[in-house]
Amino acid sequence: MRQLLVLLLLSFSCFLYSASALSSDGETLLSLRRRWTSVPPSINSTWNASHSTPCSWAGIRCDHAHNVISLNLNDYGIIGQLGPEIGHLTHLQNLVLFNNGFSGKIPPEIGNCSLLQYLDLKNNSFSGQIPDSFKNLLNLEYISLSTNQLTGQFPESLTQIPQLQLVELSYNNLTGPIPSSIGNMSELLMLYLQFNHLSRQIPSSIGNCSKLQELFLNQNQFEGVLPHTLNKLHNIVYLDFADNALRGTVPLGSGSCDNLLFLDLSNNVFSGGIPSGLGNCSGLTKFIALNSSFSGSIPSSIGLLRNLSLLHLYQNHLSGKIPPEIGNCKSLTELNLYSNQLEGEIPSELGKLSKLKDLRLYLNHLTGEIPLSVWKIPKLEYIHLYNNSLSGELPLEMTGLKHLKNITLHNNHFSGVIPQTLGINSSLVELDFTNNNFSGSIPPNLCYGKKLRKLNLGRNRLQGGIPSDVGRCTTLRSANGLIGEIPSEIRDLQNLERLDLSRNNLTGSIQVLAQIPFFLEINVSYNSFQGPIPKKLFESPYYSSSSFLGNPGLCVSCSSSNGSICTASSYVKPCDQKSTHQKGLSKVEIAMIALGSSIFFVFVLLGLVYMFVVCGGKSEEEIPISVEDGTISLLNEVMEATENLSDQHIIGRGAHGIVYKAAIDSTRVFAVKKIAFLGNKGKSLSMIREIQTLGRIRHRNLVKLEDFWWRKDFGLILYPYMPNGSLHDILHEKNPPPSLEWNVLYKIAIGIAHGLAYLHYDCDPPIVHRDIKPKNILLDADMEPHISDFGIAKLLDQSSASAPSISVPGTIGYIAPENAYTTASSRESDVYSYGVVLLELITRKKAVDPSFMEEIDIVGWVRTVWGETGDIEEIVDSSLANELMNSKVLEQVSKVLLVAFRCTEKDPHMRPTMRHVVKQLEVTNLQARRR
Ligand SMILES: *[C@@H]1O[C@H](CO)[C@@H](O)[C@H](O)[C@H]1NC(C)=O
Ligand SMILES: *[C@@H]1O[C@H](CO)[C@@H](O)[C@H](O)[C@H]1NC(C)=O
Ligand SMILES: *[C@@H]1O[C@H](CO)[C@@H](O)[C@H](O)[C@H]1NC(C)=O
Ligand SMILES: *[C@@H]1O[C@H](CO)[C@@H](O)[C@H](O)[C@H]1NC(C)=O
Ligand SMILES: *[C@@H]1O[C@H](CO)[C@@H](O)[C@H](O)[C@H]1NC(C)=O
Ligand SMILES: *[C@@H]1O[C@H](CO)[C@@H](O)[C@H](O)[C@H]1NC(C)=O
Repeated sequence: MRQLLVLLLLSFSCFLYSASALSSDGETLLSLRRRWTSVPPSINSTWNASHSTPCSWAGIRCDHAHNVISLNLNDYGIIGQLGPEIGHLTHLQNLVLFNNGFSGKIPPEIGNCSLLQYLDLKNNSFSGQIPDSFKNLLNLEYISLSTNQLTGQFPESLTQIPQLQLVELSYNNLTGPIPSSIGNMSELLMLYLQFNHLSRQIPSSIGNCSKLQELFLNQNQFEGVLPHTLNKLHNIVYLDFADNALRGTVPLGSGSCDNLLFLDLSNNVFSGGIPSGLGNCSGLTKFIALNSSFSGSIPSSIGLLRNLSLLHLYQNHLSGKIPPEIGNCKSLTELNLYSNQLEGEIPSELGKLSKLKDLRLYLNHLTGEIPLSVWKIPKLEYIHLYNNSLSGELPLEMTGLKHLKNITLHNNHFSGVIPQTLGINSSLVELDFTNNNFSGSIPPNLCYGKKLRKLNLGRNRLQGGIPSDVGRCTTLRSANGLIGEIPSEIRDLQNLERLDLSRNNLTGSIQVLAQIPFFLEINVSYNSFQGPIPKKLFESPYYSSSSFLGNPGLCVSCSSSNGSICTASSYVKPCDQKSTHQKGLSKVEIAMIALGSSIFFVFVLLGLVYMFVVCGGKSEEEIPISVEDGTISLLNEVMEATENLSDQHIIGRGAHGIVYKAAIDSTRVFAVKKIAFLGNKGKSLSMIREIQTLGRIRHRNLVKLEDFWWRKDFGLILYPYMPNGSLHDILHEKNPPPSLEWNVLYKIAIGIAHGLAYLHYDCDPPIVHRDIKPKNILLDADMEPHISDFGIAKLLDQSSASAPSISVPGTIGYIAPENAYTTASSRESDVYSYGVVLLELITRKKAVDPSFMEEIDIVGWVRTVWGETGDIEEIVDSSLANELMNSKVLEQVSKVLLVAFRCTEKDPHMRPTMRHVVKQLEVTNLQARRR
């Protein structure tokens, strides 16, 4: 019988060329293996060609007739392709290859394995489309192709497989709609399509998949309204529609939804309110609908959800009062309703939520006192109520919260004395009471749990001393609003990063601060400290001399150092003199800058000075110079698109030429710059070489030179078109002024820094740009910055320069003070200009603006305002003010401001390098930077 079978198979097999004892299934497996470049030892050692059947091989199971029915190789680390030979395993029921490195197409021949029930290829690198031949897999019950790189559509053929229960196509690049034939899938239990690019409306026929339990459509581009028929899915347990473009009202809750445990509607653009029918979904445990444009009040029917453990409705437009019925959701552990327009008082019924750990109601319009019952919720760990209009005193009961970690009450109207036993039985991590009316003394045991990282008490009416137990807090990273004298225990704060003691009446010496190993920011301004500022504090790149303002008794000791400190610190008097300088640049110096630059300013076309520039460490060979032009066909297209450089296509006129927009077709849009040559042929030839050389610089934050053409009287340079224009346009020119979110500004700041750091350190020889200003920062469609206009850039390796050097260029307001007198072109001057750009980003004021009056430039203005108020809100652009309520944003803005201060230090040696700047802006784990 068996021999008969083997014979039969032999006669059908087209792969068996040599006489071998191995069965054809075995041969098929060996030919599959030949396509693998990495084969794990267990396969190597057991897949033995001398065997007669493969049934004992690793990963193989056979039926009684020795046919392979299961190929199960998950997590084998196989790298390679899945060959078409797979189609020869016609008895295969299970094909399980997940967690390997398979790439290439999924072979359509799998469709020949018609007995297949279980197909799992997830977590590989398969690409291409899902084969249509899968429609032949009429026995298939389970298919997972998740986490590959599949493209194309959700194949309608899958919906024709009658037994299919699980379809998992998530984490691919599928596009197009869900076919409406999905409704034919009467056995479907689970449909996972999340993280694709699927679009259009969710078909209403999905309501016919009556057995469906889990539906994950999140992270796609679905649009239109949710179909009413979802209410027909009586067995549904998980529903996830987050991160799509769904609109309209949400129709859920009108059918029976007893089984629903999880519902996520987040990040869509729904209209109307949260459907009150959801109260019928009595099993719901997690309901998430953040940032989904919901308005109206929170329906009281939410109180019917006795199993609800997580309610996240933040970042919507919800208004009205918090319904007291929420107190009936006895299982609630997280109640996050922040960033809405909720008003009224916090209902005392919330005190019934005995399992609540995380209460976030910040950024609303809540008033009144925090009910005593809330302070008695035993498990509370996080209380975030900042930016409301809450008032009243903190009751002694709050000190009973043994699990309390973070409490933020800043920007409210709380008053009275902070309970003095606060902290004793808790493990506080973050405490922010800034800007209230607290009085009395600081509780002495806040550092009891040793874990406090942030202690902000500024802008209150506290009195007394800094508690000496502060030394226990070995992880304190940020502190402000402390008062009294600086206790010596503060030296034990080995992890302190930010210390703000400004505007208190502190006295004595600040010597002890030199013993804290690392500061990101220190501000002791406006106190009554005495004596020399420790040298170490001045040497750190992390803070500026403005940290010490307003302490008439503080001084710098010149005799103890080489004297460079003295010159760098015009803000603080030297210890041996009585005079006090104020502010950075005097008016006379500013005038000199203005004068100097207009004298030296030279009209330069494309002054790129040197020929062999190698960036990014790619160490290219000397580049053969050719004066050949760009492609003529492209030039013709450019000329056609600009109607022979006709005026109506002009998008800008710069010092170095006129810029036209050339829209050749929808995908090829360029900016073309025309430079008149003024008849100097020799000079222009060398410029062409330089253009070519610079054309080899590639960085995502430097504008790309696409092509150029050389004509008798003029040259043309082609760049990618930047739809958002220059940073200058965006900041100052556009009308109405576009609103710029902080994350966009931050991205621009980091991008420019990356580009400059690349020029300064990754090019050989290094390049100094010398004219960094918002007009020379172009923004692409994604607001990614590109440094442009290398018209006066300069290579630092002067010795081999082939062209005469170009002297003191730049733009008033951005020129470093040292360049007012000299022609030094150094990286430090770029750093200064970069600092000015940062200040412009933060303030949205121009570098030189009549409103600055006597300070004349932005550097002086910001320093003065900061010195006088210490208030970042006085400095930032008013449209950012709202975002500053987010403490993360506030932290980033402050960080960038500090970087800007350092970049614009008067003494070039005090400025950080661009590499340092990149690091400072990027670093998230500050710990990693400790020396
Ligand atoms: C697999 O077997 C081949 C020869 O059959 C041998 O050259 C190779 O070293 C083996 N690899 C491993 C990892 O055992
Ligand atoms: C393959 O199988 C043959 C016969 O069973 C055996 O002699 C040989 O040692 C095996 N080879 C390996 C590499 O295990
Ligand atoms: C196997 O599959 C391929 C592609 O789907 C098909 O062209 C071929 O006819 C099939 N072979 C058999 C024997 O069914
Ligand atoms: C899949 O989409 C991502 C994000 O859109 C993209 O980065 C990636 O290149 C795409 N992969 C393929 C194979 O199309
Ligand atoms: C608690 O505070 C720490 C320190 O400020 C912070 O890193 C963390 O994100 C906060 N956690 C919560 C849940 O508020
Ligand atoms: C500091 O002292 C001055 C005068 O000595 C007083 O007017 C001011 O209120 C004090 N500030 C604080 C915060 O105690």
